[in-house]
Parts: sequence; structure tokens; C-alpha cells
Amino acid sequence: MDKRYFSDKVVKWYEENKRDLPWRDTKDPYKVWLSEIILQQTRVIQGLPYYLKFVERFPTVQALAAAAEQEVLRLWQGLGYYTRARNLHACAKEVVSRYQGVFPKTFEELKKLRGVGDYTAAAIASFSFQEPVAVVDGNVFRVLSRVFGIDKEINSPEGRKMFTLLANELISRKHPDRYNQAVMEFGALFCTPKNPDCPSCIFKATCFAVQHDMQAVLPVKAKAKAARKRYFYYFVFQQGKSLLMKKREAKDIWHGLYDFYLVEKSKPVKTEKLIQEFNTSGPWVVEEDGEASEQYKHVLSHQIILSKFILVRIDAKSVNGLTKDMKFYSLKKIADLPKPVLISRFLADRDLLK
Ligand code: ADE
Repeated sequence: MDKRYFSDKVVKWYEENKRDLPWRDTKDPYKVWLSEIILQQTRVIQGLPYYLKFVERFPTVQALAAAAEQEVLRLWQGLGYYTRARNLHACAKEVVSRYQGVFPKTFEELKKLRGVGDYTAAAIASFSFQEPVAVVDGNVFRVLSRVFGIDKEINSPEGRKMFTLLANELISRKHPDRYNQAVMEFGALFCTPKNPDCPSCIFKATCFAVQHDMQAVLPVKAKAKAARKRYFYYFVFQQGKSLLMKKREAKDIWHGLYDFYLVEKSKPVKTEKLIQEFNTSGPWVVEEDGEASEQYKHVLSHQIILSKFILVRIDAKSVNGLTKDMKFYSLKKIADLPKPVLISRFLADRDLLK
């Protein structure tokens, strides 16, 4: 297909079909950056309320940079991939301290910022500064692989290179912002992963996938490794209306968030055995057997967390040797702590989120 034909047509489609999204009304690089970080690995419908919350609470990069990390994590809660939230905060601080609060204006400079890779740098450079660099995300891979019949694996370095090269040949020099938004929007709304409506498509006459009935095959992706299963047994120690919470400080998932006293196993284990183990090697002794919850399954990108919660009531006297990352918090305080969604799910199920 002729490249110019593709670009003109997809932009025309965009003008007629685009969603009205708040970050499209602005060229402010802070807001563009914020929206793109939030929308990574997140659908628009899920990310939109977070974007609005962040812009309201932190209208400028200076406001975000000045916030406490705990507040940023709390506002981020539910979006997952918390490294993104920490990078977001670190990047805001970097823009303020190294760039006097003004975002750099070029793709190459933008890429030096924390958490800003090729994709985000291209989005900011094109949407805010009209630099003709193509964004290449999952939507773009899908549209280009189908329309132009490219079967290189999208998650291989050569595949990424090839798509990036093609995308940069297709981009409009005059309106790179519109072109980038257009391909992403076409992928998000029309050229969908499953059941695209090809008979009504603007490209049906020339699309490679339609001509060869390959919509279900393209884009090609190398198989990911199987997710690692982890068994989390949480002791939920309750003292009256307070629960023992533990701040996660290890280099692992959920760094900086609060969960409960955790015993991790590589295989499923019976609750009685866990309590026995706790009583022989844990910091204190529990008298009661503890009531175990049903299993909670929490799926992350490369891990599956299978978790049970063992609720144990204890009185203050029996607790000794609390390390400094552990503390009893009232339910009201717990509601305000940044927590993994798994923990919030448990608390909500037990009506403990006040
Ligand atoms: N997903 C990621 N970035 C987006 C954007 N700018 N508009 C719509 N969806 C997106």
C-alpha cells in the first residue's frame, strides 16, 4: 500500500471517529507525559479517572515533585506496576531540579528522563512539540502488521526495529501529532485484537491481512515464559480495631506499599503447619488456630500470586520483637496507606476498609 495513502486515510478516519479525551486538548508536555505514563499497560477507560485525579491534585510538575511519595503511591493505587508511579515521581523531581521545571523539547533529550522510553518520548515530542517521531505501541504494531503484512515478531529487537522504521516513514511531517494519535486510535477502536470489523474497514481493499485472511495471525508475538507461581500466606494480626501492617522494603513487587506479616512458600502448605512453623520460628507465639480465608488469585505480568489470609487475634502483651517496618494501625489509618490491590480486596471482603 502506498505510504502517503495510508497516512492520509488514517488521519481522515481519526478526525471523524476520535474520542474526546482530556489530554488531547492540551500541548502541555506535563499533561501529555502524565497521561502517557498512566496509559502504559492500562486501558483508556481505566486510566482516565487516574489522569483526572492527578491533574486536579498536581496541576503542575512542580506540585507533583513537591508531593510525598506516599501520597503519589496512594493516588496510583489500583493501577499496578508501582515502579511506574515511583518513576513518575522521580521524573517530576528531575524536571524541576535539572530542567528548572521545563520539560525538554526533543525526542533525544526527553529519553534521558527517568521512566521515559522511546514510546513516551515520541508521544511528548510529537504531541507537544510537533517533532516527527513515530510512536510505536501495541496498537501501532497491530495496525501496521496487518495492513502491510509484516510477520516479524513484535517483541523481538529486529521486529521492533522494523516497525519503528516503517512507522517513521509513514508519519506526516506536517502534523506528526495527529498522525500518531490517529494510528493509535485506529488500533484501539477499529483494528482491534479480536474480531475486527474488516468488511467496514477503510483499508479493506488493500489490507494484507484482509486479502490473506490473516487478521487472527498478525501481529506475531513470541511466546512469553510461563508466569511464576508464588504462594503468599499472610498472617493478619488483629488487636481490637487495629491490624499489624508491614511496609515492603525488599527489592521485589510492591516496594514501598503496605501488606501484612508474610510467609512465602514455593508450594501450597496447610494452615496448621504454617501456624506451627510460626510458633517455633516466628517472633512471638499465637494461641489460637487462626481462621484462614479462601484462596485469592492475583495475576501480575510475570507472576501469579496465590494467597491466603490467616486472621489471628492477639493481645498487646504477646507481641514482642516488632521490627521497625511493622506497626499496628487503626482501620482508618489503613484505609489511607498505599496497599497492593490484593490487600485492598481482602480488607474490602472482610468489611475492614473504613
Ligand atoms: N493510549 C496511550 N496513549 C494514548 C493516547 N494518547 N490516546 C489514546 N489512547 C492512548
